[in-house]
Amino acid sequence: MNRNLALEFVRVTEMAAIASARLMGRGDEKAADQAAVDAMRAMLDSVDCDATVVIGEGERDEAPMLYIGEKVGSGNGPELEIALDPLEGTTVCAVGGYNSISVMAIAEKGCLLNAPDTYMQKIAVGKEGKGCININDSASENLRRLAEAKKCRVQDLTAVILDRPRHKDLIEEVRRAGARIQLIGDGDVSAAIACCNPNSGVDILFGIGGAPEGVIAAAALRCMGGDFQGVLKPRNEEEVERALKMGIKDMNKVFSIEELASGHVMFVATGVTSGSFLRGVQFKPWGAITHSLVMRSQSGTIRHIEAEHHFDTKPRY
Ligand code: FBP
Repeated sequence: MNRNLALEFVRVTEMAAIASARLMGRGDEKAADQAAVDAMRAMLDSVDCDATVVIGEGERDEAPMLYIGEKVGSGNGPELEIALDPLEGTTVCAVGGYNSISVMAIAEKGCLLNAPDTYMQKIAVGKEGKGCININDSASENLRRLAEAKKCRVQDLTAVILDRPRHKDLIEEVRRAGARIQLIGDGDVSAAIACCNPNSGVDILFGIGGAPEGVIAAAALRCMGGDFQGVLKPRNEEEVERALKMGIKDMNKVFSIEELASGHVMFVATGVTSGSFLRGVQFKPWGAITHSLVMRSQSGTIRHIEAEHHFDTKPRY
């Protein structure tokens, strides 16, 4: 994959972020999401590639745009697969909270898991924890091994967990193990990425969140040298059927980071509201400032891009 493509794709998340950030705090999740979807869809066709959405807004019959299987890009250029979330953290954006982003992971054909829109149990760590996690072991065992790898005590580790009733036992176990906990309302892609940043204050992500977000997070962690494992957690027979249709036969299968996102992977994200690794969109009298992250697994380069968008020369906005 041409490395310059990553810089083309960041334009797409920048536009989606600006469009949804306009609606921050309006209490209208649908409108914020729709604005991001429309902007992302429009910008994608300006990128020279022949791409297919493998993780998107849903199945073809339920999402008019950016649905799974939709062809995007100009049609000229490399054959790619895209896992995208135009607005990850719709509720966050609607209430003006912390950590909503516009995000895409890009890979060569056949490299991203076609995950159904169901739940996934996840575990994520940064570079120092690579190779020492096992999602089938208890949280306390994983914490013990991570502490050993990081040469610290379990009490010095912080686990980030989505604040959901389904995580009651997990939270109790982590507390018993002695680790600190950061409970988050939404946004487990950002939380997984935060595990790779030594200054984020979090070391490990545990818990169940969206499966599509799991693939996107795995792609990000491939670029950052972290580790990730996931197990699908379908909630009903219909979701099991969807997984089967996508070729996933074993619902207990542990997907490694490479099985979720293999080959050369690119990851781009732009902050919509400020969060653990990106600042949100700031509007100015002349336009807007965005903050994005662009990463490639091949080089391991992590590029932060602050962009000034002057609306007088960008008629769309
Ligand atoms: P949305 O952007 O689709 O609202 O997802 C936000 C999110 O918090 C994800 O980061 C997470 O994986 C998922 O929702 C968790 O799902 P649920 O809110 O059903 O527990």
